[in-house]
Amino acid sequence: MTSGTSGIDERLAGKRICIVAGSGGVGKTTASAALALGLAAAGQRVAVVTIDPARRLADSLGLEELGNEPRRVDATVLEGHGIEMRGELWAMMLDPKATFDGLIAKLAPDAATRDDVLGNRIYAQLSSAIAGSQEFSAVAKLYELDRDGDYDAIVLDTPPSRNALDFLDAPDRLADFFGGRALKLFLVPGGIAGRVMGKGTAVVFGILKKLTGVNLLDDVSVLFRSMGSLIDGFRERASAVKALLSDPATTFLIVTSPEREPVAEAIFFRQKLREAGMPFGGLIVNRAAVLTEAEMTAPAAIHAALRDDLGDALAAKVAAGAEDLQILAARHAAAIERLRSAFDEPDPIVVPRLDGEVQDIDGLLVLYRHLAGRSNST
Ligand SMILES: Nc1ncnc2c1ncn2[C@@H]1O[C@H](COP(=O)(O)OP(=O)(O)O)[C@@H](O)[C@H]1O
Ligand SMILES: [Mg+2]
Repeated sequence: MTSGTSGIDERLAGKRICIVAGSGGVGKTTASAALALGLAAAGQRVAVVTIDPARRLADSLGLEELGNEPRRVDATVLEGHGIEMRGELWAMMLDPKATFDGLIAKLAPDAATRDDVLGNRIYAQLSSAIAGSQEFSAVAKLYELDRDGDYDAIVLDTPPSRNALDFLDAPDRLADFFGGRALKLFLVPGGIAGRVMGKGTAVVFGILKKLTGVNLLDDVSVLFRSMGSLIDGFRERASAVKALLSDPATTFLIVTSPEREPVAEAIFFRQKLREAGMPFGGLIVNRAAVLTEAEMTAPAAIHAALRDDLGDALAAKVAAGAEDLQILAARHAAAIERLRSAFDEPDPIVVPRLDGEVQDIDGLLVLYRHLAGRSNST
Protein backbone atom coordinates (compact mmCIF):
# COMPACT_ATOMS: atom_id res chain seq x y z
CA MET A 1 0.00 0.00 0.00
CA THR A 2 1.36 3.37 -0.96
CA SER A 3 1.43 6.09 1.61
CA GLY A 4 2.08 9.77 1.33
CA THR A 5 0.73 11.94 -1.41
CA SER A 6 1.14 11.33 -5.07
CA GLY A 7 -0.37 13.44 -7.80
CA ILE A 8 -3.12 12.49 -10.17
CA ASP A 9 -0.67 11.66 -12.98
CA GLU A 10 0.99 8.88 -10.98
CA ARG A 11 -2.37 7.54 -9.89
CA LEU A 12 -3.67 7.33 -13.43
CA ALA A 13 -0.55 5.73 -14.87
CA GLY A 14 -1.50 2.78 -17.09
CA LYS A 15 -5.20 3.70 -17.03
CA ARG A 16 -7.14 4.58 -20.13
CA ILE A 17 -10.54 5.27 -18.64
CA CYS A 18 -11.11 7.46 -15.66
CA ILE A 19 -14.60 7.73 -14.16
CA VAL A 20 -15.15 10.69 -11.91
CA ALA A 21 -17.81 9.88 -9.32
CA GLY A 22 -19.23 11.46 -6.18
CA SER A 23 -22.23 13.30 -4.74
CA GLY A 24 -23.90 16.18 -6.54
CA GLY A 25 -22.25 19.58 -6.42
CA VAL A 26 -18.86 18.46 -5.12
CA GLY A 27 -16.96 19.41 -8.28
CA LYS A 28 -17.05 16.31 -10.51
CA THR A 29 -17.71 18.16 -13.76
CA THR A 30 -15.09 20.79 -13.01
CA ALA A 31 -12.52 18.23 -11.92
CA SER A 32 -13.19 16.11 -15.04
CA ALA A 33 -12.62 19.09 -17.30
CA ALA A 34 -9.50 20.17 -15.41
CA LEU A 35 -8.07 16.67 -15.48
CA ALA A 36 -8.72 16.23 -19.20
CA LEU A 37 -7.23 19.62 -19.99
CA GLY A 38 -4.13 18.90 -17.93
CA LEU A 39 -3.58 15.47 -19.47
CA ALA A 40 -4.07 16.85 -22.98
CA ALA A 41 -1.69 19.75 -22.36
CA ALA A 42 0.88 17.20 -21.19
CA GLY A 43 0.70 15.38 -24.51
CA GLN A 44 -2.10 12.82 -24.40
CA ARG A 45 -5.01 12.48 -26.78
CA VAL A 46 -7.88 12.89 -24.33
CA ALA A 47 -11.66 12.75 -24.61
CA VAL A 48 -13.83 14.13 -21.84
CA VAL A 49 -17.56 13.48 -21.53
CA THR A 50 -19.16 16.09 -19.33
CA ILE A 51 -22.69 16.05 -17.99
CA ASP A 52 -24.62 19.25 -17.41
CA PRO A 53 -21.59 21.52 -17.28
CA ALA A 54 -22.14 25.04 -16.01
CA ARG A 55 -22.73 27.44 -18.89
CA ARG A 56 -19.43 29.22 -18.41
CA LEU A 57 -17.47 26.01 -18.25
CA ALA A 58 -19.13 24.82 -21.46
CA ASP A 59 -18.23 28.12 -23.11
CA SER A 60 -14.64 27.91 -21.92
CA LEU A 61 -14.24 24.58 -23.68
CA GLY A 62 -16.32 25.53 -26.68
CA LEU A 63 -18.76 22.73 -25.86
CA GLU A 64 -21.93 22.52 -27.86
CA GLU A 65 -25.12 20.79 -26.95
CA LEU A 66 -25.68 19.43 -30.40
CA GLY A 67 -23.75 16.57 -31.84
CA ASN A 68 -23.33 14.15 -28.99
CA GLU A 69 -19.86 13.36 -30.29
CA PRO A 70 -16.60 14.74 -28.96
CA ARG A 71 -15.28 17.78 -30.79
CA ARG A 72 -11.71 18.80 -30.75
CA VAL A 73 -11.08 21.74 -28.45
CA ASP A 74 -9.03 24.35 -30.24
CA ALA A 75 -5.43 24.23 -28.98
CA THR A 76 -5.45 28.02 -28.88
CA VAL A 77 -7.56 27.91 -25.68
CA LEU A 78 -4.23 27.64 -23.90
CA GLU A 79 -2.70 30.61 -25.67
CA GLY A 80 -1.67 33.28 -23.21
CA HIS A 81 -1.91 30.88 -20.27
CA GLY A 82 1.79 30.15 -20.18
CA ILE A 83 1.39 26.51 -21.16
CA GLU A 84 1.40 24.66 -24.41
CA MET A 85 -1.11 22.11 -25.74
CA ARG A 86 1.15 19.17 -26.50
CA GLY A 87 -1.66 16.66 -27.00
CA GLU A 88 -5.30 16.86 -28.08
CA LEU A 89 -8.39 17.62 -26.07
CA TRP A 90 -11.74 16.34 -27.31
CA ALA A 91 -14.80 17.29 -25.33
CA MET A 92 -18.51 16.67 -25.40
CA MET A 93 -21.62 17.23 -23.41
CA LEU A 94 -23.65 14.05 -22.97
CA ASP A 95 -27.05 14.00 -24.63
CA PRO A 96 -28.71 11.01 -22.97
CA LYS A 97 -31.61 10.69 -25.38
CA ALA A 98 -29.44 10.92 -28.49
CA THR A 99 -27.10 8.34 -26.99
CA PHE A 100 -29.97 6.00 -26.31
CA ASP A 101 -31.45 6.49 -29.79
CA GLY A 102 -28.03 5.85 -31.30
CA LEU A 103 -27.78 2.61 -29.40
CA ILE A 104 -31.19 1.46 -30.64
CA ALA A 105 -30.18 2.38 -34.19
CA LYS A 106 -27.01 0.32 -33.89
CA LEU A 107 -28.71 -2.69 -32.40
CA ALA A 108 -31.67 -2.76 -34.78
CA PRO A 109 -31.38 -5.69 -37.19
CA ASP A 110 -32.47 -3.55 -40.14
CA ALA A 111 -33.41 -0.03 -41.13
CA ALA A 112 -37.15 -0.71 -41.03
CA THR A 113 -37.01 -1.90 -37.42
CA ARG A 114 -34.86 1.06 -36.51
CA ASP A 115 -37.34 3.51 -38.01
CA ASP A 116 -40.29 1.69 -36.46
CA VAL A 117 -38.77 2.08 -33.01
CA LEU A 118 -37.31 5.58 -33.29
CA GLY A 119 -40.45 6.98 -34.91
CA ASN A 120 -42.73 5.36 -32.39
CA ARG A 121 -44.68 7.65 -30.09
CA ILE A 122 -44.60 5.26 -27.17
CA TYR A 123 -40.84 4.86 -27.60
CA ALA A 124 -40.45 8.63 -27.52
CA GLN A 125 -42.02 8.68 -24.07
CA LEU A 126 -40.30 5.55 -22.89
CA SER A 127 -36.84 6.56 -24.07
CA SER A 128 -36.97 9.95 -22.42
CA ALA A 129 -37.79 8.19 -19.19
CA ILE A 130 -35.07 5.60 -19.69
CA ALA A 131 -32.55 8.14 -20.88
CA GLY A 132 -33.47 9.84 -17.63
CA SER A 133 -31.26 6.99 -16.61
CA GLN A 134 -28.35 9.24 -17.59
CA GLU A 135 -26.18 6.78 -15.78
CA PHE A 136 -26.70 4.18 -18.45
CA SER A 137 -26.31 6.62 -21.33
CA ALA A 138 -23.06 7.83 -19.82
CA VAL A 139 -21.49 4.38 -19.71
CA ALA A 140 -22.96 3.45 -23.08
CA LYS A 141 -21.23 6.52 -24.51
CA LEU A 142 -18.03 5.61 -22.74
CA TYR A 143 -18.18 2.17 -24.32
CA GLU A 144 -18.69 3.67 -27.77
CA LEU A 145 -15.81 6.12 -27.42
CA ASP A 146 -13.57 3.41 -26.13
CA ARG A 147 -14.34 1.26 -29.14
CA ASP A 148 -14.41 3.91 -31.84
CA GLY A 149 -11.83 6.49 -30.94
CA ASP A 150 -8.23 5.85 -30.28
CA TYR A 151 -7.85 8.04 -27.25
CA ASP A 152 -4.99 7.67 -24.81
CA ALA A 153 -7.40 8.65 -22.06
CA ILE A 154 -11.14 9.04 -21.66
CA VAL A 155 -12.45 11.01 -18.69
CA LEU A 156 -16.09 10.40 -17.82
CA ASP A 157 -17.96 12.81 -15.63
CA THR A 158 -20.97 11.18 -13.93
CA PRO A 159 -24.56 12.38 -13.62
CA PRO A 160 -25.75 14.48 -10.75
CA SER A 161 -27.51 11.54 -9.14
CA ARG A 162 -28.68 11.82 -5.62
CA ASN A 163 -26.81 8.63 -5.06
CA ALA A 164 -23.51 7.91 -6.80
CA LEU A 165 -24.30 4.22 -6.59
CA ASP A 166 -27.05 4.48 -9.17
CA PHE A 167 -24.22 4.66 -11.60
CA LEU A 168 -22.87 1.21 -10.80
CA ASP A 169 -26.30 -0.42 -11.02
CA ALA A 170 -27.50 1.25 -14.18
CA PRO A 171 -26.38 -1.37 -16.74
CA ASP A 172 -27.92 -4.18 -14.68
CA ARG A 173 -31.15 -2.33 -14.13
CA LEU A 174 -31.59 -1.64 -17.82
CA ALA A 175 -30.60 -5.14 -18.87
CA ASP A 176 -33.15 -6.43 -16.39
CA PHE A 177 -35.75 -4.17 -17.85
CA PHE A 178 -35.10 -5.16 -21.43
CA GLY A 179 -34.36 -8.81 -20.88
CA GLY A 180 -36.44 -9.32 -17.84
CA ARG A 181 -39.90 -10.31 -16.96
CA ALA A 182 -41.53 -6.96 -17.45
CA LEU A 183 -40.97 -6.86 -21.16
CA LYS A 184 -41.37 -10.58 -21.72
CA LEU A 185 -44.79 -10.42 -20.17
CA PHE A 186 -45.72 -8.09 -22.94
CA LEU A 187 -44.03 -9.96 -25.70
CA VAL A 188 -44.98 -13.60 -25.25
CA PRO A 189 -48.04 -14.61 -27.21
CA GLY A 190 -51.01 -14.38 -24.92
CA GLY A 191 -48.97 -12.26 -22.51
CA ILE A 192 -50.25 -9.12 -20.92
CA ALA A 193 -50.06 -7.26 -24.18
CA GLY A 194 -52.42 -9.63 -25.88
CA ARG A 195 -54.78 -9.99 -22.98
CA VAL A 196 -54.92 -6.41 -21.88
CA MET A 197 -55.11 -5.02 -25.33
CA GLY A 198 -57.91 -7.35 -26.20
CA LYS A 199 -60.29 -5.98 -23.62
CA GLY A 200 -60.52 -2.93 -21.43
CA THR A 201 -57.45 -1.24 -22.77
CA ALA A 202 -58.74 -1.46 -26.30
CA VAL A 203 -61.71 0.59 -25.14
CA VAL A 204 -59.43 3.18 -23.62
CA PHE A 205 -57.28 3.34 -26.72
CA GLY A 206 -60.44 3.58 -28.81
CA ILE A 207 -61.68 6.56 -26.86
CA LEU A 208 -58.25 8.16 -27.06
CA LYS A 209 -58.31 7.69 -30.77
CA LYS A 210 -61.68 9.36 -31.08
CA LEU A 211 -60.49 12.24 -28.96
CA THR A 212 -57.07 12.71 -30.46
CA GLY A 213 -57.20 11.02 -33.81
CA VAL A 214 -54.10 9.09 -32.83
CA ASN A 215 -54.14 5.34 -32.68
CA LEU A 216 -51.75 4.54 -29.87
CA LEU A 217 -52.69 0.91 -29.95
CA ASP A 218 -50.83 0.56 -33.22
CA ASP A 219 -47.83 2.21 -31.66
CA VAL A 220 -47.85 -0.18 -28.76
CA SER A 221 -48.00 -3.29 -30.88
CA VAL A 222 -45.43 -2.04 -33.39
CA LEU A 223 -43.08 -1.09 -30.59
CA PHE A 224 -43.28 -4.40 -28.83
CA ARG A 225 -42.87 -6.33 -32.03
CA SER A 226 -39.76 -4.36 -33.00
CA MET A 227 -38.29 -4.33 -29.54
CA GLY A 228 -38.37 -8.11 -29.48
CA SER A 229 -35.62 -8.25 -32.08
CA LEU A 230 -33.50 -5.83 -30.08
CA ILE A 231 -33.53 -7.45 -26.70
CA ASP A 232 -30.64 -9.86 -27.12
CA GLY A 233 -28.39 -7.21 -28.59
CA PHE A 234 -29.33 -4.85 -25.83
CA ARG A 235 -28.55 -7.31 -23.07
CA GLU A 236 -25.21 -8.12 -24.63
CA ARG A 237 -24.39 -4.45 -24.87
CA ALA A 238 -25.43 -3.84 -21.30
CA SER A 239 -23.12 -6.55 -20.04
CA ALA A 240 -20.23 -5.33 -22.22
CA VAL A 241 -20.80 -1.86 -20.83
CA LYS A 242 -20.77 -3.24 -17.32
CA ALA A 243 -17.60 -5.21 -18.00
CA LEU A 244 -15.90 -2.02 -19.09
CA LEU A 245 -16.46 -0.61 -15.61
CA SER A 246 -14.26 -3.29 -14.10
CA ASP A 247 -11.69 -3.41 -16.89
CA PRO A 248 -8.08 -3.24 -15.61
CA ALA A 249 -7.55 -0.09 -17.70
CA THR A 250 -10.50 1.62 -15.99
CA THR A 251 -10.31 3.43 -12.70
CA PHE A 252 -12.68 5.43 -10.53
CA LEU A 253 -11.79 8.72 -8.94
CA ILE A 254 -14.09 9.67 -6.10
CA VAL A 255 -14.64 13.36 -5.53
CA THR A 256 -16.08 14.75 -2.34
CA SER A 257 -16.30 18.00 -0.50
CA PRO A 258 -15.28 18.03 3.16
CA GLU A 259 -18.91 18.27 4.28
CA ARG A 260 -20.64 15.60 6.30
CA GLU A 261 -23.00 14.05 3.75
CA PRO A 262 -20.70 13.87 0.72
CA VAL A 263 -18.00 12.42 2.99
CA ALA A 264 -20.35 9.70 4.20
CA GLU A 265 -21.36 8.97 0.63
CA ALA A 266 -17.74 8.85 -0.56
CA ILE A 267 -16.92 6.28 2.11
CA PHE A 268 -19.98 4.25 1.20
CA PHE A 269 -19.16 4.43 -2.50
CA ARG A 270 -15.59 3.28 -1.88
CA GLN A 271 -17.01 0.31 -0.01
CA LYS A 272 -19.35 -0.53 -2.89
CA LEU A 273 -16.55 -0.31 -5.42
CA ARG A 274 -14.55 -2.75 -3.36
CA GLU A 275 -17.48 -5.15 -3.07
CA ALA A 276 -18.11 -4.97 -6.80
CA GLY A 277 -14.42 -5.58 -7.52
CA MET A 278 -14.15 -2.29 -9.34
CA PRO A 279 -10.91 -0.35 -9.50
CA PHE A 280 -10.32 2.70 -7.35
CA GLY A 281 -7.77 5.30 -8.40
CA GLY A 282 -7.94 7.98 -5.77
CA LEU A 283 -9.94 10.32 -3.62
CA ILE A 284 -10.17 14.05 -4.26
CA VAL A 285 -11.32 16.26 -1.42
CA ASN A 286 -12.40 19.39 -3.19
CA ARG A 287 -13.13 22.88 -1.87
CA ALA A 288 -11.40 22.40 1.44
CA ALA A 289 -10.78 25.48 3.56
CA VAL A 290 -7.01 25.57 3.71
CA LEU A 291 -5.59 28.51 5.66
CA THR A 292 -2.36 30.41 5.28
CA GLU A 293 -0.20 30.92 8.31
CA ALA A 294 -1.42 34.49 8.71
CA GLU A 295 -5.02 33.30 8.65
CA MET A 296 -4.25 30.92 11.50
CA THR A 297 -3.24 33.68 13.88
CA ALA A 298 -5.21 33.42 17.14
CA PRO A 299 -8.32 35.63 16.94
CA ALA A 300 -7.35 37.46 20.15
CA ALA A 301 -3.98 38.36 18.61
CA ILE A 302 -5.67 39.60 15.45
CA HIS A 303 -8.00 41.71 17.53
CA ALA A 304 -5.14 43.19 19.52
CA ALA A 305 -3.07 43.90 16.42
CA LEU A 306 -5.86 45.69 14.59
CA ARG A 307 -7.58 47.51 17.42
CA ASP A 308 -5.51 50.69 17.19
CA ASP A 309 -5.91 51.10 13.44
CA LEU A 310 -9.45 49.88 12.92
CA GLY A 311 -11.09 50.66 16.21
CA ASP A 312 -12.44 48.08 18.62
CA ALA A 313 -15.67 47.14 16.84
CA LEU A 314 -14.19 46.55 13.41
CA ALA A 315 -11.15 44.72 14.80
CA ALA A 316 -13.51 42.45 16.73
CA LYS A 317 -15.42 41.72 13.54
CA VAL A 318 -12.27 40.77 11.66
CA ALA A 319 -11.19 38.57 14.56
CA ALA A 320 -14.59 36.88 14.62
CA GLY A 321 -14.35 36.28 10.88
CA ALA A 322 -10.94 34.71 11.31
CA GLU A 323 -12.29 32.52 14.08
CA ASP A 324 -15.15 31.27 11.88
CA LEU A 325 -12.69 30.43 9.15
CA GLN A 326 -10.46 28.58 11.60
CA ILE A 327 -13.39 26.57 12.90
CA LEU A 328 -14.34 25.67 9.33
CA ALA A 329 -10.77 24.69 8.47
CA ALA A 330 -10.56 22.54 11.60
CA ARG A 331 -13.81 20.82 10.67
CA HIS A 332 -12.53 20.18 7.16
CA ALA A 333 -9.24 18.85 8.51
CA ALA A 334 -11.19 16.44 10.72
CA ALA A 335 -13.25 15.30 7.74
CA ILE A 336 -10.09 14.68 5.72
CA GLU A 337 -8.66 12.69 8.62
CA ARG A 338 -11.84 10.63 8.76
CA LEU A 339 -11.61 9.94 5.02
CA ARG A 340 -7.95 9.07 5.29
CA SER A 341 -8.54 6.39 7.88
CA ALA A 342 -11.72 5.08 6.21
CA PHE A 343 -10.03 4.71 2.85
CA ASP A 344 -6.78 3.28 4.16
CA GLU A 345 -5.20 3.94 0.79
CA PRO A 346 -2.97 6.63 -0.72
CA ASP A 347 -3.71 9.93 0.92
CA PRO A 348 -6.53 11.97 -0.57
CA ILE A 349 -5.66 14.75 -2.94
CA VAL A 350 -6.81 17.91 -1.21
CA VAL A 351 -7.90 20.78 -3.44
CA PRO A 352 -8.54 24.08 -1.70
CA ARG A 353 -11.59 26.19 -2.16
CA LEU A 354 -10.49 28.48 -4.97
CA ASP A 355 -11.54 32.07 -5.34
CA GLY A 356 -14.55 32.68 -7.50
CA GLU A 357 -16.02 30.10 -9.83
CA VAL A 358 -13.57 27.71 -11.41
CA GLN A 359 -15.05 27.78 -14.86
CA ASP A 360 -12.53 29.38 -17.15
CA ILE A 361 -9.30 28.01 -18.54
CA ASP A 362 -7.21 29.69 -15.85
CA GLY A 363 -9.40 28.19 -13.14
CA LEU A 364 -9.16 24.73 -14.69
CA LEU A 365 -5.38 24.97 -14.95
CA VAL A 366 -5.10 26.02 -11.30
CA LEU A 367 -7.36 23.12 -10.34
CA TYR A 368 -5.27 20.71 -12.40
CA ARG A 369 -2.07 21.85 -10.73
CA HIS A 370 -3.62 21.03 -7.38
CA LEU A 371 -4.68 17.62 -8.65
CA ALA A 372 -1.19 17.01 -9.95
CA GLY A 373 0.40 18.13 -6.68
CA ARG A 374 2.18 20.96 -8.45
CA SER A 375 0.27 23.89 -7.03
CA ASN A 376 3.50 25.64 -6.03
CA SER A 377 4.98 25.71 -9.50
CA THR A 378 3.73 28.25 -11.96
N1 LIG B 1 -11.96 23.92 -5.85
C1 LIG B 1 -13.02 24.71 -6.09
N2 LIG B 1 -13.06 25.96 -5.57
C2 LIG B 1 -14.11 26.77 -5.78
N3 LIG B 1 -15.19 26.44 -6.51
C3 LIG B 1 -15.22 25.20 -7.07
C4 LIG B 1 -14.14 24.28 -6.89
N4 LIG B 1 -14.46 23.15 -7.57
C5 LIG B 1 -15.67 23.35 -8.13
N5 LIG B 1 -16.14 24.58 -7.84
C6 LIG B 1 -17.43 25.17 -8.25
O1 LIG B 1 -18.46 24.41 -7.63
C7 LIG B 1 -19.61 24.35 -8.45
C8 LIG B 1 -20.06 22.90 -8.63
O2 LIG B 1 -19.09 22.22 -9.38
P1 LIG B 1 -19.46 21.06 -10.42
O3 LIG B 1 -18.18 20.63 -11.03
O4 LIG B 1 -20.53 21.51 -11.32
O5 LIG B 1 -20.01 19.94 -9.41
P2 LIG B 1 -20.68 18.53 -9.78
O6 LIG B 1 -20.37 18.22 -11.20
O7 LIG B 1 -20.07 17.54 -8.82
O8 LIG B 1 -22.13 18.68 -9.52
C9 LIG B 1 -19.24 25.03 -9.75
O9 LIG B 1 -19.76 26.33 -9.72
C10 LIG B 1 -17.71 25.07 -9.74
O10 LIG B 1 -17.21 26.17 -10.42
MG1 LIG C 1 -21.78 17.84 -12.74
